[in-house]
Amino acid sequence: MAAQQVVLILDFGGQYKELIARRVRECNVYSIVKPGDITPDEIRAIHPIGIILTGGPNSVYKDDSPHCDKAIFSMGIPVLGICYGTQLLAWSVGGTVAPCAAGEYGKTRMLVKPSSPLFAGMAEEQIGLMSHTDQISVLPEGFVSVAATKDCPNAAVENQARQLYGMQFHPEVESTPNGTQMIRNFLYRVCGAVGDYNLKDLEQKLIEGIRSQVGQAHVLLGLSGGVDSSVCAALLSKAIPGQVHCIFVDHGLMRKNEGDEVEQAFKTRDLHFIRVNAGERFLSRLAGVTDPEQKRKIIGAEFVRVFEEEAAKLPNVRYLAQGTIYPDVIESGGSKAATIKSHHNVGGLPKNMNFAGIVEPLRSLFKDEVRALGRQLGLPGKFVARQPFPGPGLSVRIMGEITPEKIAILQEADAIFREEITRRRIKADQYFAVLTDTRSVGVVGDFRTYDYTVALRAVRTSDFMTCEYAPISHKVLGLVSSRIVNEVKGAGRVVYDITGKPPATIEWS
Ligand code: XMP
Repeated sequence: MAAQQVVLILDFGGQYKELIARRVRECNVYSIVKPGDITPDEIRAIHPIGIILTGGPNSVYKDDSPHCDKAIFSMGIPVLGICYGTQLLAWSVGGTVAPCAAGEYGKTRMLVKPSSPLFAGMAEEQIGLMSHTDQISVLPEGFVSVAATKDCPNAAVENQARQLYGMQFHPEVESTPNGTQMIRNFLYRVCGAVGDYNLKDLEQKLIEGIRSQVGQAHVLLGLSGGVDSSVCAALLSKAIPGQVHCIFVDHGLMRKNEGDEVEQAFKTRDLHFIRVNAGERFLSRLAGVTDPEQKRKIIGAEFVRVFEEEAAKLPNVRYLAQGTIYPDVIESGGSKAATIKSHHNVGGLPKNMNFAGIVEPLRSLFKDEVRALGRQLGLPGKFVARQPFPGPGLSVRIMGEITPEKIAILQEADAIFREEITRRRIKADQYFAVLTDTRSVGVVGDFRTYDYTVALRAVRTSDFMTCEYAPISHKVLGLVSSRIVNEVKGAGRVVYDITGKPPATIEWS
């Protein structure tokens, strides 16, 4: 059998490199991401059918901006530049890049030329997500413009003879509605892709990666019972059966009855399942802490301390495994990206850990891909379809100090909200209650009350990187509100959060 086709994605510091990789996977083509300064020899060794240059925050004409070896553009391998990547391509082969008179941001109307392979079969009028302050001001010799916006005459460019293409906009994001089709066109019409990559291959590659990383060593997996860690457990037990120990740390911040439900679900499966009840320990560490990032860091650190203690009781455990997925990584920030919040399993980890390494096979995948993988691995539908629940649990949904009283109020209110949403089959991808730190005056019978305000949040999203609030009817909201204030002691008022992401995030902290 011929070796599988591969597309090489070269990283120039853009936020969306894994999103590009994901779109290429969606088009049934395997891709790998490498740093932008890769050498031509290293590229030849990979035998890519095409190269995609990512975006990035720099200006190509500045000395300290990331460049690539110009020989890449004469290797006979088709190249597609995206945003900064298109500027780099044009600049490298003799064009000029200069600041735009007016930068373009957001969804922008473009006129494209369907005669270009990139836009074959498409209407002339398209929307592209623009986000740039520089643009190609003079085209390199042999290049033509194949798309233009009001302010950007070179919104897409090509030199068909040399198989060099560029898009100033971002085809990889959902805000470019036909973006995946444009990437597909590049892959199939320019690079000669045959579509020889699928989920089975992904599973096999992940399994090979796990085996080569851990060898004969044993692995301790932090299992929360959520989709990501459950899929990770299934994958690990297929890759290295007998070498996996799953530890469920009940930090006392689970949803109502959830600790016991997780134990029931996993104890009977073919896994070494360990439950540690650490509620008091976590609560004492969190006493008096109100800052959201500090709470996340404390929880991340405490998780690892419990993992280390349990690992020491087991033979040959050298690795800690986690179900980290790509949105956790990108939002936790890094050397180039901004920190939005430290997801407990990424930015929340302490620096010194007693493990030889971390195993995170799902690190480059998106939620819907993780679900598809879980189904393929044979996990029961109810696990795979579960809404996400963050590792730090209800701590990210309790504003201000965390106390047993506040946890109890939130658990009850949240259980009521989830019960009503499920019973009524309301369409939402994640839904939960939040306990605000605001108390307000009410009246029950003839008495004054001064109780907490509960906020309800329900969102629709596929990738959890952006979301819209779910338009739940006022009737249902009213019913949930009256159940919460009547049934939950300490809850005095209910509000519904109608903010999208961005600018808000899904969780409140
Ligand atoms: P945000 O609040 O960043 O959340 O819009 C995006 C998705 O990630 C979940 N989330 C987490 N998951 N550990 C996790 O495992 C965390 O620390 C964490 N913080 C947020 C959140 O529930 C949503 O689905």
